[in-house]
Amino acid sequence: MFTLDQVVPWGRSFDEYRRMFALTNHDLCLRIIGCGDGPASFNAEATRLGFRVISCDPIYRWDAVHIEDRIAATYNEVLEQVRKNVDEFVWASIRSVEELGLVRMAAMKEFLSDYPVGKNEGRYIDAALPILPFPSESFDLALSSHLLFLYTTQLGEDFHRAAVREMCRVANEVRIFPLLALGGRRSAFVERIADECGNSAFEVSIDNVPYEFQRGGNQMMRIRRI
Ligand SMILES: C[S@@+](CC[C@H](N)C(=O)[O-])C[C@H]1O[C@@H](n2cnc3c(N)ncnc32)[C@H](O)[C@@H]1O
Repeated sequence: MFTLDQVVPWGRSFDEYRRMFALTNHDLCLRIIGCGDGPASFNAEATRLGFRVISCDPIYRWDAVHIEDRIAATYNEVLEQVRKNVDEFVWASIRSVEELGLVRMAAMKEFLSDYPVGKNEGRYIDAALPILPFPSESFDLALSSHLLFLYTTQLGEDFHRAAVREMCRVANEVRIFPLLALGGRRSAFVERIADECGNSAFEVSIDNVPYEFQRGGNQMMRIRRI
């Protein structure tokens, strides 16, 4: 079973974010915050296309050289885990472990080249859930890709509840992808978090999305302020 002891820096592209979160052109024009964006190229590519994205991650306390070192230190471990568990993934748009390495590294390089400028512009903020340094409702849309639910065991239920509450505080809508934990099973927290949010001023849905890399991972949670 695919497993990691801790949350690792690993970055996806704008196109993957677009599909994971079923982002429409209208969505992309909103004020977006990416929570735990790490070395993804979503912010870099979105900015180049003229959209407004702020990314938060504790790795942004480091400079580009240090982040690149951290990526290099975990890169082989992640690919080795994928290699040992190939059946847990769908090899359709990415066809092999080698291609996965190339695609992820291309996205992370794009992030690294944008990072110094983006940090100066305030697009990369050193912040860690469950505390975001923004006033309430500063954003239209908050995204969490491959952090919440994925690291179910490592982060625990209290952290998940507090993190989702905080994302709901700063944004009018929250989308979380995937709903699966590492290893490919649906996180036990999905239904409990949905119940908690559904009992407050939010409506919750589980929506299918046009993206599946972890086998069975083609759904996001959508939480909207009523
Ligand atoms: C697997 S990476 C995913 C990166 C990106 N979202 C993507 O899908 O390509 C997980 C990221 O979560 C970040 N992270 C870990 N703990 C966090 C926290 N408490 N708040 C925000 N981000 C966190 C890590 O630093 C890492 O960059």
